[in-house]
Amino acid sequence: MDWKQVRDSIEMDPSLIYLNTGTSGLVPKNVHSRALELRVELHHNPTRSAWLAPWDDLWRSRFRLSQTVATTPDRLVFFTNISQAINTFCLSANLPSGSEILLTDHEYGSMRMAWERAAKRRGWNLRVASLPLDQQDPDRYIDAITSQWTKQTRLLYVSHVLYSSGHVLPLRPIIQQAREAGILVFVDGAHAPGMIPLNLSELGAHFYAANLHKWFLAPVGAAFLYVEDGMEDHLEPWQVSWAYRDDRSQPNARNEFGSTPWIRQFEMEGTRDITPWRVIHLCCDFHDSIPETAKRNRFEELSQLVRESLDGVGGLRCITPETPQLRAGLTSFIVPLSIDGQRLRQRLWDRHRIEVNLVEVGGVNYFRVSTHVYNCEEEVDALARAIRSGIPKS
Ligand SMILES: Cc1ncc(COP(=O)(O)O)c(C=O)c1O
Repeated sequence: MDWKQVRDSIEMDPSLIYLNTGTSGLVPKNVHSRALELRVELHHNPTRSAWLAPWDDLWRSRFRLSQTVATTPDRLVFFTNISQAINTFCLSANLPSGSEILLTDHEYGSMRMAWERAAKRRGWNLRVASLPLDQQDPDRYIDAITSQWTKQTRLLYVSHVLYSSGHVLPLRPIIQQAREAGILVFVDGAHAPGMIPLNLSELGAHFYAANLHKWFLAPVGAAFLYVEDGMEDHLEPWQVSWAYRDDRSQPNARNEFGSTPWIRQFEMEGTRDITPWRVIHLCCDFHDSIPETAKRNRFEELSQLVRESLDGVGGLRCITPETPQLRAGLTSFIVPLSIDGQRLRQRLWDRHRIEVNLVEVGGVNYFRVSTHVYNCEEEVDALARAIRSGIPKS
């Protein structure tokens, strides 16, 4: 694979070093130009673009994405971001008062808040499984979760890739065991599409939400929720708009809006700009153009370089496992109390124009570096040099 050519196909600002795909990814040049074209059309004639557009590209996006993640298009509802998808579920899930929801201690902070609000309103109890982040054996993660559910557990909410430490959790056996125990599974796959191969049919979760504006490289404003056939009763749109009275006698049949009657209730929110959804099919083309093994190897090369370059520097300690199946594009370091992590991040931006992230979970700071296939060795070297040139003490 010619990685230089891949890098050249991405819309980039050469004056900065972008190592934060984990927050939002850069977009391929053809995705960028098509999105701009669509926005120009929208600004020139908002009536036609927002209300009367040819919806074929919306269906094309849904169809191509369904091929990429191994499901059917009628199972995929587009959302603006994963927060919206998860909140919709939290507020409408058909679970009785007294139900126990099991989640881990490394769920994304604001999603944890969404569950806390829902639990308060609906009389659910949240139970938290603690993950042994320093373990290298996938079985330890399986045990840490499966040993925590009880007779009251109705739903397991778990991230596929931990946003803090970059662990890729071995979800398949966990989901199998949960299903055998009669527990529903909702996966927060915010980081998965575009970072790891995703086969929703094999994985077997009842619900899977993911962002496409991170590793899948869609413009900001693209996410999806997969809903297993038969699980629709757990979801209700919180915003009523024109799809409310649509004929839903054939809920899963393709309609003239590039969706289905069931899906459109969620996607039709009133006047809005759905450009990010309309270019998802182009992102699918981008990912298809790179063979999976080449991609996997590139993630491996760059994340190994990040680990080797930064582990131990100033006391940073790599927490992302070495076990290949437990990691991919996020490499994370625990920041010792002696370092001021926020000032380090700020300094990297102010003095070196390097974008990375700092994530706090349970009082611990994680210095998080994202490397996608469009990043390069020189960028990682520049980060290592910049850190060595001065680490702010706390
Ligand atoms: C694991 C996880 N879940 C949910 C989210 C929320 O994503 P968004 O702000 O796009 O809704 C993030 C964002 O980084 C995340 O990392």
